[in-house]
Amino acid sequence: PLGSTIDDNGHLRIGGLDAVELAKEYGTPLYVFDENDIRERCREFKREFAGRYPATHIAFAGKACLNKAIAKVVASEGFGLDVVSGGELEIARSAGFPTNQIYFHGNNKSDAELEMALEYKVGRIVVDNFYELSRLDAMAARRGVKADIMFRIKPGIDPHTHAKITTGNIDSKFGFGLDDAADAVARAMKCGNLKLTGFHYHIGSQIFEIQPFLDALKTTLEFMARMKRELGFITEELDAGGGYAVQYLSGAQPPAIGEYAEAIVSLLRSECHRLGLALPKLSVEPGRATVARSAVALYTVGAIKDIPGVRCYACVDGGMADNIRPALYCSQYEPYLANRMADYADQTYTIAGRFCESGDILANDVKLPEVKPGDILVMPVSGAYSIPMSSNYNAFCRPAVVMVKDGQARIIKRRETVEDLLRTDLG
Ligand code: LLP
Repeated sequence: PLGSTIDDNGHLRIGGLDAVELAKEYGTPLYVFDENDIRERCREFKREFAGRYPATHIAFAGKACLNKAIAKVVASEGFGLDVVSGGELEIARSAGFPTNQIYFHGNNKSDAELEMALEYKVGRIVVDNFYELSRLDAMAARRGVKADIMFRIKPGIDPHTHAKITTGNIDSKFGFGLDDAADAVARAMKCGNLKLTGFHYHIGSQIFEIQPFLDALKTTLEFMARMKRELGFITEELDAGGGYAVQYLSGAQPPAIGEYAEAIVSLLRSECHRLGLALPKLSVEPGRATVARSAVALYTVGAIKDIPGVRCYACVDGGMADNIRPALYCSQYEPYLANRMADYADQTYTIAGRFCESGDILANDVKLPEVKPGDILVMPVSGAYSIPMSSNYNAFCRPAVVMVKDGQARIIKRRETVEDLLRTDLG
């Protein structure tokens, strides 16, 4: 995270605290978030997007990592929130998140979730399909309310990222194709209990290129012009999703947020002008880019297994159950040792987890100083999509999460215990 330093002992410091001491005090695996770093990222988004285009609603995509502490931090920075389940909505509510700042996404919301969205008066319900549209219309009618909705559309753009995190293509399970969306708009215009404010797309995640964002925007603006022409429908809002890439590896630097913002906002203005559209309210939903770099995962090294001439494994006390990303997406990380930051990294290791799967490898062929049992291995850039995708595989207890700020640490999620696991096991 921003402000991480190395002290005289060659130890990593995060938020003014020694990472090795944190590992000792709270145990490992441990996820450590730096609150100031999250705040700085929020401010960067506000500066770069709202600074250029004041009518911008910036929402944290909670799926990247949602808990009460993070919800409070992003709310206090003036961010909205994107949720995809009743569970995320309840976490946000219990953190006191203003529900009118919440957008409810999802491709198969249950009746209970839609009722909840109406009950809590969430800001927007992002409707994904016809089945949802008709159920929501009936529910809103029964309650005698008028709910603000958006439609998720598929602009049919390939963002050139990993296939498992590509979502805007026409065979995606998410959203309406454009012709279906046109039918849905006509239907929504007749629904007395729903107010369609506009359109949402999200084309994928960890997108390094700016062009796919622009292609999706252009397609959507043209669709908005078509809806105005064919149906007289005026789009008030455009939610351009998230997907901004962050830097995981030293050699792979994505565009700065300001570069994405400049390109998106200037195309939005020029295309609206060209197409004769009023400028819509813009939403963006950064998940990864808000929190990924704000946290590290700390593990303790145990067994070291050298297979001469083949590879040397350093095994840690976590792995795929707390971070599935390397196994699922072949995601790469550059780990280091919190207790030996100044040592020369001249050995090659494969970092293995502790789970019963050969695929449980956190990093392949990485350079480290000679690793010894007891060393504290750091996985940087671990704030997004690790903890929220974690599992209890092998009856693993999910790690503790600590928030540090200006030299103070507090536990924001306690480590799970076997009692937690047994609570749902009724025998
Ligand atoms: N908005 C919507 C509607 C989304 O579906 C997503 C992510 C976001 C915003 C936030 O995207 P971000 O800014 O974080 O890229 N588990 C995968 C990433 C899945 C993203 C799912 N949707 C990973 O670990 O790479």
